[in-house]
Amino acid sequence: MENYRLSNGVNIPKVGFGTWQIPDGEEVYNSVKHALEVGYRHVDTAQIYRNEVGVGRAIADSGLAREDIFLTTKVWNDKHDYELAKASIDESLEKLGVDYVDLLLIHWPNPVALRENDAWKTGNAGAWKAMEEAYKAGKVRAIGVSNFMIHHLEALLESAEIKPHVNQVLLAPGCPQEELTAFCRQHDILLEAYSPLGTGSIFNNELVKDMAGKYGKSIAQVALRWSLQKGFLPLPKSVTPKNIEANLEIFDFELSAEDVAKLDKVEGVSQQKDPDQTNF
Ligand SMILES: NC(=O)c1ccc[n+]([C@@H]2O[C@H](COP(=O)([O-])OP(=O)(O)OC[C@H]3O[C@@H](n4cnc5c(N)ncnc54)[C@H](OP(=O)(O)O)[C@@H]3O)[C@@H](O)[C@H]2O)c1
Repeated sequence: MENYRLSNGVNIPKVGFGTWQIPDGEEVYNSVKHALEVGYRHVDTAQIYRNEVGVGRAIADSGLAREDIFLTTKVWNDKHDYELAKASIDESLEKLGVDYVDLLLIHWPNPVALRENDAWKTGNAGAWKAMEEAYKAGKVRAIGVSNFMIHHLEALLESAEIKPHVNQVLLAPGCPQEELTAFCRQHDILLEAYSPLGTGSIFNNELVKDMAGKYGKSIAQVALRWSLQKGFLPLPKSVTPKNIEANLEIFDFELSAEDVAKLDKVEGVSQQKDPDQTNF
Protein backbone atom coordinates (compact mmCIF):
# COMPACT_ATOMS: atom_id res chain seq x y z
CA MET A 1 0.00 0.00 0.00
CA GLU A 2 1.40 3.39 -1.01
CA ASN A 3 1.31 6.29 1.48
CA TYR A 4 0.61 9.98 1.61
CA ARG A 5 2.69 11.97 4.09
CA LEU A 6 0.94 14.29 6.54
CA SER A 7 2.37 17.73 7.33
CA ASN A 8 3.84 16.34 10.58
CA GLY A 9 5.74 13.62 8.67
CA VAL A 10 3.41 10.74 9.56
CA ASN A 11 2.73 8.30 6.70
CA ILE A 12 -0.90 7.45 5.95
CA PRO A 13 -1.93 4.61 3.58
CA LYS A 14 -3.52 5.99 0.41
CA VAL A 15 -6.75 4.01 0.71
CA GLY A 16 -8.67 3.53 3.96
CA PHE A 17 -11.41 1.05 4.85
CA GLY A 18 -14.70 2.79 5.78
CA THR A 19 -16.91 1.31 8.50
CA TRP A 20 -19.93 3.62 8.76
CA GLN A 21 -23.19 1.63 8.96
CA ILE A 22 -21.40 -1.64 9.63
CA PRO A 23 -22.93 -2.93 12.86
CA ASP A 24 -20.67 -3.78 15.78
CA GLY A 25 -20.08 -7.46 16.48
CA GLU A 26 -19.43 -10.12 13.86
CA GLU A 27 -20.23 -7.97 10.83
CA VAL A 28 -17.67 -5.26 11.48
CA TYR A 29 -15.22 -7.82 12.87
CA ASN A 30 -15.39 -9.97 9.74
CA SER A 31 -15.26 -7.02 7.33
CA VAL A 32 -12.25 -5.34 8.96
CA LYS A 33 -10.49 -8.68 9.40
CA HIS A 34 -10.97 -9.49 5.72
CA ALA A 35 -9.84 -6.01 4.69
CA LEU A 36 -6.62 -6.42 6.69
CA GLU A 37 -6.06 -9.90 5.24
CA VAL A 38 -6.27 -8.63 1.65
CA GLY A 39 -3.98 -5.64 2.12
CA TYR A 40 -5.77 -2.64 3.68
CA ARG A 41 -3.62 -1.01 6.34
CA HIS A 42 -5.91 1.88 7.22
CA VAL A 43 -9.30 1.68 8.99
CA ASP A 44 -11.74 4.54 9.55
CA THR A 45 -14.24 4.41 12.41
CA ALA A 46 -15.93 6.91 14.76
CA GLN A 47 -17.52 6.96 18.18
CA ILE A 48 -20.93 7.47 16.61
CA TYR A 49 -20.56 4.39 14.39
CA ARG A 50 -20.75 2.42 17.65
CA ASN A 51 -18.47 -0.25 16.27
CA GLU A 52 -15.13 0.67 17.87
CA VAL A 53 -15.14 -2.53 19.93
CA GLY A 54 -15.50 -4.81 16.89
CA VAL A 55 -12.98 -2.80 14.88
CA GLY A 56 -10.47 -3.09 17.72
CA ARG A 57 -11.03 -6.85 18.04
CA ALA A 58 -10.43 -7.37 14.32
CA ILE A 59 -7.19 -5.38 14.53
CA ALA A 60 -6.04 -7.34 17.59
CA ASP A 61 -6.78 -10.68 15.88
CA SER A 62 -5.28 -9.70 12.51
CA GLY A 63 -1.81 -10.93 13.37
CA LEU A 64 -0.41 -7.60 12.15
CA ALA A 65 1.78 -5.40 14.30
CA ARG A 66 -0.14 -2.41 15.69
CA GLU A 67 2.32 -0.01 14.04
CA ASP A 68 1.52 -1.50 10.63
CA ILE A 69 -2.13 -0.38 10.84
CA PHE A 70 -3.32 3.20 10.56
CA LEU A 71 -6.42 3.66 12.73
CA THR A 72 -8.75 6.67 12.76
CA THR A 73 -11.60 7.54 15.08
CA LYS A 74 -13.65 10.70 15.63
CA VAL A 75 -14.95 12.79 18.51
CA TRP A 76 -18.74 13.08 18.39
CA ASN A 77 -21.03 16.11 18.58
CA ASP A 78 -21.87 15.80 22.28
CA LYS A 79 -18.17 16.09 23.20
CA HIS A 80 -17.35 19.59 21.92
CA ASP A 81 -15.83 20.73 25.17
CA TYR A 82 -12.32 20.39 26.63
CA GLU A 83 -13.16 18.04 29.54
CA LEU A 84 -15.72 15.96 27.64
CA ALA A 85 -13.42 15.51 24.65
CA LYS A 86 -10.54 14.55 26.94
CA ALA A 87 -12.63 11.81 28.57
CA SER A 88 -14.01 10.66 25.24
CA ILE A 89 -10.52 10.17 23.75
CA ASP A 90 -9.71 7.75 26.59
CA GLU A 91 -13.06 6.03 26.11
CA SER A 92 -12.33 5.46 22.41
CA LEU A 93 -8.87 4.06 23.19
CA GLU A 94 -10.42 1.68 25.68
CA LYS A 95 -13.17 0.50 23.30
CA LEU A 96 -10.66 0.03 20.49
CA GLY A 97 -8.28 -1.76 22.87
CA VAL A 98 -5.27 0.29 21.74
CA ASP A 99 -2.73 2.60 23.41
CA TYR A 100 -2.99 5.18 20.63
CA VAL A 101 -4.90 5.99 17.47
CA ASP A 102 -3.12 7.26 14.38
CA LEU A 103 -5.65 9.95 13.59
CA LEU A 104 -8.36 11.62 15.65
CA LEU A 105 -10.91 13.93 14.03
CA ILE A 106 -13.62 16.33 15.20
CA HIS A 107 -16.49 14.63 13.38
CA TRP A 108 -18.76 17.61 12.71
CA PRO A 109 -18.05 21.36 12.93
CA ASN A 110 -21.40 22.69 14.03
CA PRO A 111 -23.66 20.44 16.12
CA VAL A 112 -27.28 21.60 16.43
CA ALA A 113 -26.90 22.21 20.18
CA LEU A 114 -24.10 24.76 19.55
CA ARG A 115 -25.70 26.88 16.83
CA GLU A 116 -26.82 29.87 18.90
CA ASN A 117 -24.35 32.76 19.24
CA ASP A 118 -21.69 30.83 17.33
CA ALA A 119 -21.14 28.55 20.35
CA TRP A 120 -19.68 26.00 17.91
CA LYS A 121 -16.48 28.05 17.74
CA THR A 122 -15.82 27.67 21.48
CA GLY A 123 -16.91 24.02 21.33
CA ASN A 124 -14.43 23.20 18.57
CA ALA A 125 -11.63 25.14 20.29
CA GLY A 126 -12.22 23.19 23.54
CA ALA A 127 -12.25 19.80 21.82
CA TRP A 128 -9.19 20.81 19.80
CA LYS A 129 -7.23 21.70 22.95
CA ALA A 130 -7.96 18.23 24.37
CA MET A 131 -6.84 16.71 21.05
CA GLU A 132 -3.62 18.75 21.02
CA GLU A 133 -2.85 17.49 24.51
CA ALA A 134 -3.56 13.89 23.49
CA TYR A 135 -1.24 14.42 20.52
CA LYS A 136 1.55 15.70 22.76
CA ALA A 137 0.96 12.80 25.17
CA GLY A 138 1.35 10.25 22.35
CA LYS A 139 -2.27 9.06 22.48
CA VAL A 140 -2.79 10.15 18.86
CA ARG A 141 -0.25 10.51 16.06
CA ALA A 142 -2.17 13.12 14.06
CA ILE A 143 -5.25 15.31 14.58
CA GLY A 144 -7.76 16.69 12.17
CA VAL A 145 -11.34 17.55 11.40
CA SER A 146 -14.23 16.29 9.32
CA ASN A 147 -17.01 18.08 7.44
CA PHE A 148 -15.23 21.41 8.05
CA MET A 149 -15.91 24.09 5.44
CA ILE A 150 -13.58 27.08 4.97
CA HIS A 151 -15.20 29.26 7.66
CA HIS A 152 -15.00 26.44 10.23
CA LEU A 153 -11.31 25.94 9.45
CA GLU A 154 -10.61 29.68 9.67
CA ALA A 155 -12.26 29.85 13.09
CA LEU A 156 -10.29 26.85 14.36
CA LEU A 157 -7.00 28.19 13.01
CA GLU A 158 -7.45 31.39 15.07
CA SER A 159 -6.78 29.55 18.33
CA ALA A 160 -5.13 26.28 17.25
CA GLU A 161 -1.56 25.67 18.33
CA ILE A 162 -1.32 22.70 15.97
CA LYS A 163 -2.89 23.00 12.52
CA PRO A 164 -5.23 20.17 11.46
CA HIS A 165 -3.35 17.48 9.55
CA VAL A 166 -6.47 16.17 7.79
CA ASN A 167 -9.96 17.24 6.71
CA GLN A 168 -12.29 14.32 5.93
CA VAL A 169 -15.15 15.47 3.72
CA LEU A 170 -17.53 14.23 1.06
CA LEU A 171 -15.49 14.00 -2.13
CA ALA A 172 -16.84 11.91 -4.98
CA PRO A 173 -17.31 12.23 -8.74
CA GLY A 174 -19.58 15.25 -9.21
CA CYS A 175 -18.53 16.71 -5.83
CA PRO A 176 -14.88 17.81 -6.04
CA GLN A 177 -15.36 20.77 -3.60
CA GLU A 178 -12.78 22.85 -5.44
CA GLU A 179 -12.67 25.95 -3.20
CA LEU A 180 -12.44 23.91 -0.02
CA THR A 181 -9.78 21.57 -1.40
CA ALA A 182 -7.67 24.53 -2.60
CA PHE A 183 -7.90 26.10 0.88
CA CYS A 184 -6.86 22.82 2.55
CA ARG A 185 -3.90 22.45 0.20
CA GLN A 186 -2.73 25.99 1.02
CA HIS A 187 -2.70 24.94 4.67
CA ASP A 188 -1.06 21.52 4.13
CA ILE A 189 -4.22 19.70 5.21
CA LEU A 190 -4.64 16.29 3.56
CA LEU A 191 -8.09 15.62 2.11
CA GLU A 192 -9.76 12.33 2.88
CA ALA A 193 -12.64 11.44 0.57
CA TYR A 194 -15.60 10.03 2.44
CA SER A 195 -18.48 8.34 0.61
CA PRO A 196 -16.20 8.01 -2.46
CA LEU A 197 -18.86 5.80 -4.08
CA GLY A 198 -21.68 8.19 -3.15
CA THR A 199 -22.81 5.66 -0.50
CA GLY A 200 -23.76 3.42 -3.43
CA SER A 201 -25.44 6.04 -5.64
CA ILE A 202 -22.63 5.93 -8.22
CA PHE A 203 -23.60 2.47 -9.44
CA ASN A 204 -26.58 3.72 -11.48
CA ASN A 205 -24.63 6.44 -13.25
CA GLU A 206 -24.44 5.89 -17.02
CA LEU A 207 -21.40 8.11 -17.63
CA VAL A 208 -19.33 6.32 -14.99
CA LYS A 209 -20.63 2.96 -16.25
CA ASP A 210 -19.45 3.76 -19.79
CA MET A 211 -16.09 4.97 -18.53
CA ALA A 212 -15.62 1.76 -16.55
CA GLY A 213 -16.20 -0.23 -19.76
CA LYS A 214 -13.63 1.88 -21.60
CA TYR A 215 -10.90 1.16 -19.01
CA GLY A 216 -11.93 -2.46 -18.41
CA LYS A 217 -12.45 -1.63 -14.73
CA SER A 218 -15.50 -1.51 -12.44
CA ILE A 219 -17.53 1.60 -11.61
CA ALA A 220 -16.14 1.57 -8.08
CA GLN A 221 -12.56 1.31 -9.33
CA VAL A 222 -13.02 4.28 -11.68
CA ALA A 223 -14.47 6.41 -8.86
CA LEU A 224 -11.66 5.46 -6.47
CA ARG A 225 -9.03 6.08 -9.13
CA TRP A 226 -10.52 9.54 -9.72
CA SER A 227 -10.11 10.18 -6.01
CA LEU A 228 -6.42 9.20 -6.05
CA GLN A 229 -5.69 11.26 -9.17
CA LYS A 230 -7.28 14.29 -7.45
CA GLY A 231 -4.81 13.74 -4.57
CA PHE A 232 -7.55 12.60 -2.17
CA LEU A 233 -7.47 9.63 0.16
CA PRO A 234 -10.59 7.52 -0.50
CA LEU A 235 -12.32 5.56 2.27
CA PRO A 236 -14.53 2.96 0.51
CA LYS A 237 -16.85 0.93 2.74
CA SER A 238 -17.96 -2.61 1.97
CA VAL A 239 -19.12 -5.70 3.80
CA THR A 240 -18.82 -7.87 0.67
CA PRO A 241 -15.51 -9.74 0.43
CA LYS A 242 -15.18 -9.47 -3.36
CA ASN A 243 -15.92 -5.73 -3.26
CA ILE A 244 -13.47 -5.21 -0.40
CA GLU A 245 -10.79 -6.86 -2.54
CA ALA A 246 -11.69 -5.12 -5.82
CA ASN A 247 -11.61 -1.68 -4.19
CA LEU A 248 -7.85 -2.02 -3.73
CA GLU A 249 -7.19 -2.83 -7.39
CA ILE A 250 -6.82 0.80 -8.41
CA PHE A 251 -3.08 1.21 -8.74
CA ASP A 252 -2.70 -0.43 -12.15
CA PHE A 253 -4.45 2.05 -14.45
CA GLU A 254 -4.70 5.76 -15.07
CA LEU A 255 -7.65 7.92 -16.11
CA SER A 256 -6.96 10.54 -18.77
CA ALA A 257 -7.04 14.19 -17.69
CA GLU A 258 -10.12 14.60 -19.87
CA ASP A 259 -11.96 11.79 -18.07
CA VAL A 260 -10.97 13.17 -14.65
CA ALA A 261 -12.50 16.49 -15.72
CA LYS A 262 -15.68 14.71 -16.89
CA LEU A 263 -15.97 12.97 -13.52
CA ASP A 264 -15.52 16.30 -11.71
CA LYS A 265 -18.73 17.46 -13.35
CA VAL A 266 -20.82 14.29 -13.50
CA GLU A 267 -24.34 14.88 -12.19
CA GLY A 268 -26.52 12.93 -9.78
CA VAL A 269 -23.93 11.10 -7.66
CA SER A 270 -23.39 13.15 -4.51
CA GLN A 271 -23.87 16.53 -2.97
CA GLN A 272 -22.24 17.85 0.19
CA LYS A 273 -24.85 18.74 2.80
CA ASP A 274 -24.43 22.10 4.52
CA PRO A 275 -22.90 21.25 7.93
CA ASP A 276 -24.38 24.44 9.39
CA GLN A 277 -27.90 23.27 8.53
CA THR A 278 -27.72 19.50 8.95
CA ASN A 279 -26.47 17.25 11.70
CA PHE A 280 -24.49 14.34 10.16
N1 LIG B 1 -16.83 11.84 8.44
C1 LIG B 1 -18.06 11.66 8.03
O1 LIG B 1 -18.98 12.43 8.37
C2 LIG B 1 -18.36 10.52 7.12
C3 LIG B 1 -19.61 10.48 6.45
C4 LIG B 1 -19.83 9.41 5.60
C5 LIG B 1 -18.85 8.44 5.41
N2 LIG B 1 -17.66 8.50 6.10
C6 LIG B 1 -16.59 7.47 5.94
O2 LIG B 1 -16.48 7.11 4.57
C7 LIG B 1 -16.74 5.72 4.42
C8 LIG B 1 -17.35 5.39 3.07
O3 LIG B 1 -18.52 6.11 2.82
P1 LIG B 1 -19.96 5.42 2.77
O4 LIG B 1 -20.05 4.41 3.84
O5 LIG B 1 -20.94 6.54 2.73
O6 LIG B 1 -20.07 4.66 1.41
P2 LIG B 1 -19.25 4.40 0.03
O7 LIG B 1 -17.94 3.78 0.34
O8 LIG B 1 -19.31 5.63 -0.79
O9 LIG B 1 -20.22 3.31 -0.63
C9 LIG B 1 -20.54 2.13 0.05
C10 LIG B 1 -21.60 1.37 -0.76
O10 LIG B 1 -21.03 0.92 -1.99
C11 LIG B 1 -21.12 -0.51 -2.05
N3 LIG B 1 -19.86 -0.98 -2.64
C12 LIG B 1 -18.61 -0.82 -2.13
N4 LIG B 1 -17.70 -1.32 -2.98
C13 LIG B 1 -18.38 -1.82 -4.05
C14 LIG B 1 -17.98 -2.45 -5.24
N5 LIG B 1 -16.70 -2.67 -5.52
N6 LIG B 1 -18.96 -2.84 -6.12
C15 LIG B 1 -20.27 -2.62 -5.84
N7 LIG B 1 -20.70 -2.03 -4.71
C16 LIG B 1 -19.76 -1.62 -3.83
C17 LIG B 1 -21.31 -0.97 -0.62
O11 LIG B 1 -22.04 -2.18 -0.60
P3 LIG B 1 -21.41 -3.51 0.07
O12 LIG B 1 -21.10 -3.16 1.49
O13 LIG B 1 -22.51 -4.51 -0.08
O14 LIG B 1 -20.20 -3.86 -0.74
C18 LIG B 1 -22.13 0.17 -0.04
O15 LIG B 1 -23.50 0.03 -0.39
C19 LIG B 1 -17.66 5.43 5.61
O16 LIG B 1 -17.81 4.05 5.85
C20 LIG B 1 -16.97 6.20 6.70
O17 LIG B 1 -15.84 5.50 7.17
C21 LIG B 1 -17.41 9.54 6.93
